[in-house]
Amino acid sequence: SVLEMEVEQINKGKYEHYMQKEIHEQPESLTTTMRGRLIRGGSHKAKTVLLGGLKDHLKTIRRSRRIVFIGCGTSYNAALAARPILEELSGVPVTMEVASDLLDRQGPIYREDTAVFVSQSGETADTLLALEYALENGALCVGITNTVGSAIARHTHCGVHINAGAEIGVASTKAYTSQIVVMAMLALAIGGDTISNEAKREATIDGLIDLPNKVREVLQLDQEMKDLAKLLIAEQSLLVFGRGYNYATALEGALKVKEVALMHSEGILAGEMKHGPLALVDENLPIVVIATRDACFSKQQSVIQQLHARKGRLIVMCSKGDAAAVCPGESCRAIEVPQVEDCLQPVVNIIPLQLLAYHLTVLRGFNVDQPRNLAKSVTTQ
Ligand code: G6P
Repeated sequence: SVLEMEVEQINKGKYEHYMQKEIHEQPESLTTTMRGRLIRGGSHKAKTVLLGGLKDHLKTIRRSRRIVFIGCGTSYNAALAARPILEELSGVPVTMEVASDLLDRQGPIYREDTAVFVSQSGETADTLLALEYALENGALCVGITNTVGSAIARHTHCGVHINAGAEIGVASTKAYTSQIVVMAMLALAIGGDTISNEAKREATIDGLIDLPNKVREVLQLDQEMKDLAKLLIAEQSLLVFGRGYNYATALEGALKVKEVALMHSEGILAGEMKHGPLALVDENLPIVVIATRDACFSKQQSVIQQLHARKGRLIVMCSKGDAAAVCPGESCRAIEVPQVEDCLQPVVNIIPLQLLAYHLTVLRGFNVDQPRNLAKSVTTQ
């Protein structure tokens, strides 16, 4: 109806689509996610993290034999992005499960496990069934959702709300970045105030506090991503190479492109390049390589060299000021992003790819907010 259309326009404000609005409001949604949870101590007290819903369970989580992340789609990717920092700070082994695959295999879940269920809607059938399965097996079940009162929030033993605000676009954007931030805070909370973690903890908390500013900065790439989308508009396929903290960025960037722009796209673990993907490389196929500064930087530089040697059509995402250093030839395009603490870099790096997917979709004339065949929350198996 006309009324519904008017209400929708009010909700979207100055934006044309919900996905666009949700991409651009990430500085605010991240601020809300962190509100009241990061405590800057006085001169004698170190900075700490406070997650009210977890504080009575932290001891149990620290003592668990393993932490298992369980989710689907973007929520799974967010957990994958947070795994390295959780491993580093907690010292507990962290494994990943796609909810449907855990159920297909009836994979092992033990009483000594902490199972963390990540879901924007809190209603995804596969994730909910995996939760029932983990409860039956006696694991401590933690929920990370964006929906107060959702099934997953109600059935878990404890949890954290990501407080990103309602997400309407079917393709998840602001929930993804807020999920990563919540899981980084979870890593800090589980890691606790140990001496060995002190430097990393302080740097991560400082990085979190400054993150909305860095996200505001990276959003300025909007026009640049629109220009890139124009170049890619008629492509059949797009590859995205990442590793380490940004393996998840590669998977999530490719997921955005395929789900909304309806273009084949694949996120590839760069360390696996020689074991298959290299066969696809020629002068036509566009390839995004994520090579921002972290412990994997030199390995990614060598990946770029190898792709260039095979005439790969390169788009390199690098830290500000690195374009000339990382681009091997004239034809290589660079996307320069602000550098942040390594474990938070996935939050910054996904944003140009969200913008790229958004513009590709609009230019290709597809429905951005409701891609064909997809639903915001999949409540059937
Ligand atoms: C659907 C949506 C995705 C989402 C996935 C998991 O496939 O289209 O955007 O990532 O479900 O949803 P959840 O609500 O559990 O995060």
